[in-house]
Amino acid sequence: MSDVSGRLVSARDVWKTYDRGRISVLEGVSLDVAPGEVVALWGASGSGKSTLLHLLGGLDVPDRGELSVCGLDPRVETDRLALRRSHLGFVFQLHNLIPDLTVTENLRVPGLAAGRPTAETEARLRELAETVGLAHRLGHRIQDLSGGERQRTAICRALMNRPRLLLADEPTGSLDEKTGDTVFNLLKQLAERDRIAVVLATHERRFAEACHRILRVREGRLAEV
Ligand SMILES: Nc1ncnc2c1ncn2[C@@H]1O[C@H](COP(=O)(O)OP(=O)(O)O)[C@@H](O)[C@H]1O
Ligand SMILES: [Mg+2]
Repeated sequence: MSDVSGRLVSARDVWKTYDRGRISVLEGVSLDVAPGEVVALWGASGSGKSTLLHLLGGLDVPDRGELSVCGLDPRVETDRLALRRSHLGFVFQLHNLIPDLTVTENLRVPGLAAGRPTAETEARLRELAETVGLAHRLGHRIQDLSGGERQRTAICRALMNRPRLLLADEPTGSLDEKTGDTVFNLLKQLAERDRIAVVLATHERRFAEACHRILRVREGRLAEV
């Protein structure tokens, strides 16, 4: 799952432009993430945090540079699919859950995609819902939940396949301050309990400071703070 050096994420001299090279976003970015590390990508809006997470998660490909994530190469299509299906968990700013479906139905999706046995999926989703305090909400539709409950559901969905790496893109960005703190603390606690590495994009200093390590994203580059 990790590369020969034991790193979960390794990026070397990664470049990314959009609009046929007219917009340059990442200009020679390198980073390493060890198992169990909670790392903040901290930077202003538009600095390239989401772009970098997309490259790590195989949602987009770099112009050039080396990438290794969970021992796979997100530049290669088959590896990208495997990463997204079984190795990674994603949490986005907006939950990206299916609003008409219930919490249970949403949480079944990753298990189905990974081809896991149904009984295992049902046990896992109950256990996770209990951990995040949503057991009483399993039969409710996403559209009837509060913002915080939706993000807690999104965290459960990201953890369904027991990933060793979680990519979180401003997971508290659409929540009020108190709910944001609750969701952030929950994410961090779960990651630390199960030794899941997290790369978390945020523009908020207080969340960056609560991570194990801060990488500042600025002018296309990363710098350790
Ligand atoms: N698909 C795209 N096409 C063109 N420009 C993009 C695209 N995605 C992002 N950008 C631009 O790249 C820059 C970085 O965006 P992004 O990675 O979303 O930053 P952040 O997540 O830090 O706010 C921004 O200037 C944004 O407008
Ligand atoms: Mg972003």
